[in-house]
Amino acid sequence: MWPDSRIQNLLGIDLPILLAPMAGAALSELAIAVAEAGGLGSLPCAMLNTSQVQTELSKFRQRTSRPINLNFFCHHPPEIDLKRAAFWKERLAPYYVELGIDPNLPLPTATRMPFDQAMCDLVVELKPEVVSFHFGLPEKELLARVKATGAKILSSATTVAEARWLEQQGCDAIIAQGSEAGGHRGMFLTQDSSTQIGTMSLVPQVVDAVNVPVIATGGIADARGIVAALALGASAVQLGTAYLFCPEATIGSVHRQALRNATDDQTALTNVFSGRPARGIVNRIIREVGPISDLAPPFPLAGGAVAPLRAKSETAGSQDFAQMWSGQSASLGRALPAGELTKLLAAETLAKLR
Ligand SMILES: Cc1cc2nc3c(=O)[nH]c(=O)nc-3n(C[C@H](O)[C@H](O)[C@H](O)COP(=O)(O)O)c2cc1C
Repeated sequence: MWPDSRIQNLLGIDLPILLAPMAGAALSELAIAVAEAGGLGSLPCAMLNTSQVQTELSKFRQRTSRPINLNFFCHHPPEIDLKRAAFWKERLAPYYVELGIDPNLPLPTATRMPFDQAMCDLVVELKPEVVSFHFGLPEKELLARVKATGAKILSSATTVAEARWLEQQGCDAIIAQGSEAGGHRGMFLTQDSSTQIGTMSLVPQVVDAVNVPVIATGGIADARGIVAALALGASAVQLGTAYLFCPEATIGSVHRQALRNATDDQTALTNVFSGRPARGIVNRIIREVGPISDLAPPFPLAGGAVAPLRAKSETAGSQDFAQMWSGQSASLGRALPAGELTKLLAAETLAKLR
């Protein structure tokens, strides 16, 4: 059947297909559908507080007995630099005027939180089967507490050095995130997004460098991509953008429409929405302010001043200031219910492997 069953055995799932955790784009509905179809359901927690995580996980537990992956960011919260914040606001000021937004309104505080003691307490209490991290790993004491629950630990590597580091810290499997991937680069030992590596090149080099199983992610959206990833030595794949097309994804109509029309050359790595490089569909703010701006405050602070522009733009049905994360393979997306898509991807992959 499957050429490699290490990930299925490790995580207790039937298929070597993982739903990418996607903060702001999915909650438990998508995870339940993928889990019930035999893949790994993931709940992105970076933009949720502890009570929201509890609510979403209890919905998941009520509807399925399959394993769940809780996903967290583990960046170091930056120092607030008022001067830099003022420069950033000044750069965005003409857009505030254009959209009729009061520039003196208090800005929303950045909504992406790193994994901390409170979330760790919750993980210890809720005992998810899998915990995955983005941007490295949390501090040793927190990681040890998570590991002591018996949860399997995953994290994203964007280079061979990051993969080796994650293995040394005790990760049970490594997610090799190629530069085609939608959303934030998981990079944490390098800050240079210009040297990030594509999935085709990264996966076999990571496979050669570590002993734990490797999960390929980035630009994989159909059976051809899955077969290719397995041929490169990956034990499983993690798909994000392909699942954004599913009705269970919680993205708005502006983002959904942009994905439907996206072509191969319409995404870029940009830091304008958060301060960290992330891949999204190019729109006016990326073109005019980015794609990479030296003025953007560090992650996640840049997001505060952009938030009112995003909200106004998206409410008016405009893509101009919308945050539309997408990988490079959006045009391969199929708008199917997530369970159906997962089963179809598995069946198509097995047919090709035969
Ligand atoms: C909308 C969106 C949100 C994302 N949010 C997260 C997240 O919260 N945590 C995480 O580990 N990865 C996140 N990612 C990255 C995915 O885990 C994965 O690396 C990426 O989706 C793979 O590339 P693909 O979109 O081409 O399939 C996000 C990706 C997208 C598209």
